[in-house]
Parts: sequence; C-alpha cells; structure tokens
Amino acid sequence: MLDFRKRMRSSARRNQSRVALALDLVGPHENRVSKAIGLLNDLVDKVACVKINQHLILPFGLQGLRELLQICNRKDVPVIADLKLNDVESTNLEAVDTLYKMGVDAVIANPFVGFDEGLGKVIERSRGIGKGVLLLVYMSHRGAKEGYDMKVDRKSLWRIFAQRVRSWNADGAIVSAKSPYRIREVRRMLLEDQLILTPGVGYQGGDAKKALDAGADMVIVGRSVIDSPKPGRALEEFRLLAQVP
Ligand code: XMP
Repeated sequence: MLDFRKRMRSSARRNQSRVALALDLVGPHENRVSKAIGLLNDLVDKVACVKINQHLILPFGLQGLRELLQICNRKDVPVIADLKLNDVESTNLEAVDTLYKMGVDAVIANPFVGFDEGLGKVIERSRGIGKGVLLLVYMSHRGAKEGYDMKVDRKSLWRIFAQRVRSWNADGAIVSAKSPYRIREVRRMLLEDQLILTPGVGYQGGDAKKALDAGADMVIVGRSVIDSPKPGRALEEFRLLAQVP
C-alpha cells in the first residue's frame, strides 16, 4: 500500500501537474454536482489532486458526491476534504472513517486542537491505511495574521504549527501562497517527503510561481479555473508554471 504522500506525488507525475483543483462550485444547488462532474471529466487527467469543500459537501453530502468521487478514484487522483477538522478525537475519527469509506483520500485539519484526544489518533489511523492528514499552518485570507501570527512564548503560532506537522508525522502543511517567505521557512522545517499545498493564488492575489519556487509542492486553485470561461486553458496556465520531475 502506497502512503498518501507517495500517491500525491505519483498522481502529479502521471498527470504532469502540480495543481490541486478546488471544486468550489457556487450558484443554484441543483446545478452544482453536474457542473463539478463536467469539469472533472474534462480536467481530471490534468490535475494532481482534487479538493472538495463546503460548497459541495454541505448541500449534497458524500452520498450525493458518489459519482464525482468515483471519477477521481478510478483515475487514482487523490481527493482531499477541506473540513479544517477541529474537534475532539471521537468526532474527528467518526468524520475521517466516513470520508475514507466513501472514497476520500485525505482531510485538512486544524492543529490548534492538539495531539492528545485531538488529532493524534486521526493521523495514526489515516497513515495506517494510506490516507492523509494535512494541517493548516498559515491561511491565505487577510485575517490570517490575527491568528497565525500570534506569539506564544515569543514564537509565532504558524511556526509552532509547522513543527507539529513534523513531530506529529502529518502528511503535510497548508501554507498561504501570499507568503513565499513562510513557505520557504516551513519547507525547511518539514521532512523531505511531507507535502506543502498552497492556496490563495489568482483571485486571492498570490503568485503561484513564487509559491512553487519557494518550496510548495502543489498549488490549490479554485475560482481562477472553475469560474473561467475556458477552464481547461486556465488550468493549463497553472500547469505550465512548474515541471514535475
Ligand atoms: P480560490 O478560489 O481562492 O480557492 O483559488 C482556494 C480554495 O482553498 C481554500 N482555502 C484554503 N484552504 N487553507 C485552506 O485549508 C487556507 O489558507 C485556504 N485559503 C483558501 C478555499 O476554501 C478554497 O476552497
């Protein structure tokens, strides 16, 4: 069984892409799943992984996303659920058990909740079955500084969170593309095979090339692709930014 990090890298190599496609469909609920499936059918062979969020999970649940998940599963393109998991262990475990049973490959979680009776067992269980846990280290919205830059014992919270990615043996970190400096620092702090995924490009103003050059493995792209009149062409622009060795 390949671990999640290897599966992500092998999918990126196979599809020659370092794009994590965020399927953040908005608009009338009744059109969202069919739109998402249409996008996936066109783009699934050109992305490293797919990220699903509240836009689809809340209105449809995982049952309602079965076909979408199957498209990714059949192509071996990992699916990440962006739940920013942040609860007690029993609830977190229930969430990931359901996600994994339904064909999701990884979850984004908030390291603030802690290891003991928080995320420790979630990470252990996930890794044991080739699934992944990515931890929020520095978010990309303007208010991120209000939380992630807070100091604890004179150390910034984001640095503490990056250390947690390493010491908890999580599969990677989410670090804002708007902060190549922090991406570089986090890259230095993580194990070589731990992943950095970076959101905040395009619509949010981050520069994908700078983020990848700073050490991110994959760039999370949502609206710049899915809202484009030519999603394939928009995706290609991000895809061309970085070779996959
Ligand atoms: P856009 O449309 O801005 O979508 O390309 C970005 C996607 O990523 C999510 N997002 C984040 N997720 N940490 C995360 O885990 C972040 O800092 C962050 N910033 C944006 C956003 O919800 C959307 O799905």
